[in-house]
Amino acid sequence: MSVEALPTPAQARPATGAAQPAGPAFPPGFLWGAATAAYQIEGAASEGGRSPSIWDTFSRTPGKVRNGDTGDIAADHYHRYRDDVALMSELGLGAYRFSLAWPRIQPAGEGPANEEGLDFYDRLVDELLARGITPVATLYHWDLPQTLEDRGGWTERDTAYRFAEYAALAARRLGDRIPAWTTLNEPWCSAFLGYGAGIHAPGRTDPAAALTAHHHLLLAHGLGTGALRAELPATAQVSLTLNLAAVRPLSDAPGDLDAARRIDGLANRIFLDPVFHGSYPADVLADTAEVTDWSFVRDGDLAEISRPIDSLGINYYTPTVVAADDPAAPAPRLDGHASALSPWPADRGVRFLPAEGSRTAMDWPVDADGLYELLTRLRDDLPGVPLLVTENGAAYEDYSDPSGAVHDPERVAYLHGHLDAVRRAVADGAEVRGYFLWSLLDNFEWAYGYSKRFGIVHVDFASQRRTPKDSARWYAEVIRTGQLPA
Ligand code: NOJ
Repeated sequence: MSVEALPTPAQARPATGAAQPAGPAFPPGFLWGAATAAYQIEGAASEGGRSPSIWDTFSRTPGKVRNGDTGDIAADHYHRYRDDVALMSELGLGAYRFSLAWPRIQPAGEGPANEEGLDFYDRLVDELLARGITPVATLYHWDLPQTLEDRGGWTERDTAYRFAEYAALAARRLGDRIPAWTTLNEPWCSAFLGYGAGIHAPGRTDPAAALTAHHHLLLAHGLGTGALRAELPATAQVSLTLNLAAVRPLSDAPGDLDAARRIDGLANRIFLDPVFHGSYPADVLADTAEVTDWSFVRDGDLAEISRPIDSLGINYYTPTVVAADDPAAPAPRLDGHASALSPWPADRGVRFLPAEGSRTAMDWPVDADGLYELLTRLRDDLPGVPLLVTENGAAYEDYSDPSGAVHDPERVAYLHGHLDAVRRAVADGAEVRGYFLWSLLDNFEWAYGYSKRFGIVHVDFASQRRTPKDSARWYAEVIRTGQLPA
């Protein structure tokens, strides 16, 4: 099975006789999409039988989310999904990556499905299909039912079994119409930001809990893949989305190279080895020995975790530059991977440095080469595994002009550079089958609340009015022509 098998009704039409920009072209059949996630856009937090998730709890905890923002209303997509799908259709999207909210579908975190919750996704999927847009569903984009967190969350092995049960419920109801499924989105964030650094829900700061959660998330991926295979048509695609780090050592000095090895282990190989080779890397086990003895790994777990999948999803925003620690060096401003990993005993001896280049509103350096490096590395390390860029995009300070238009040339430049990196990787043999822009809509950016806007469609959160930014028009043209402008 391959991603080529996906129906791709409205996507990348090859260039026709009409005048076309002379830029580089993407392969025919390349899947063009945009992505969102349930908690970030749906709102309707207490409607339709939905129960609270860990993000409802976390966002209500003073000091955890900027301005005290919550996902209670978000972009109100729960009520406006029809208009949003119409917008997607205007953009010419071939596919839409969204997530299913576990607390809508199985509010108790176990037991029977909440039919009203499934009904919402049923309507959404039908609307997408009616517009010729392929639904690509993620089962877990961070909104664990609070009731499961109350029992230990991802540090409890049972949560992985509950996830498989939930996956089966979703697949049974929607599997006849959703051709592509992703088990987890960025489990690194769930484990390390959620249980290690405490900057995401559930807000715990315990390195051993982070590694335990990491293993149970991977177990959930394996058990969930098994459940999906059992419920879905044989043609269905199953995937996993990882935010792998494009790790660069500052220099060839042995200390810098060793720092890169450690972080490559903790951010990348800690996922890739168990999922694709059925084992944890020996150096990662050694590097984390003072944190845990890994006794939570049981016989048979790695066989479960390494069940074959059909593609790997990659989310990429910015690279990670590391060096040997230097106690005399000033502490750099950091975010993302770096700030989450740095309090770790396992990172001892590693210094994180900002990459060169301009910064987005997240303060993340813009560096498209990192995406090329990641995709070509996966070409070499995972031959034959189709890749999808499941997220890429940028937050900027967007302003509406007096006519209401939003001009976002920096976002256009970011997208242009990164899409060109994808195209170069494809030309050099990486099997990248599609690209999902993050994000369709401005939305709830986790600990940053609504202060950061990643959308190509502006959302006025007071009126819920949607306004496509210049980047939306730019992307629509790329999709229409299958080419980047010269
Ligand atoms: C990764 C996450 O999957 C998504 O939810 C988030 O909004 C973006 N990165 C931007 O930070």
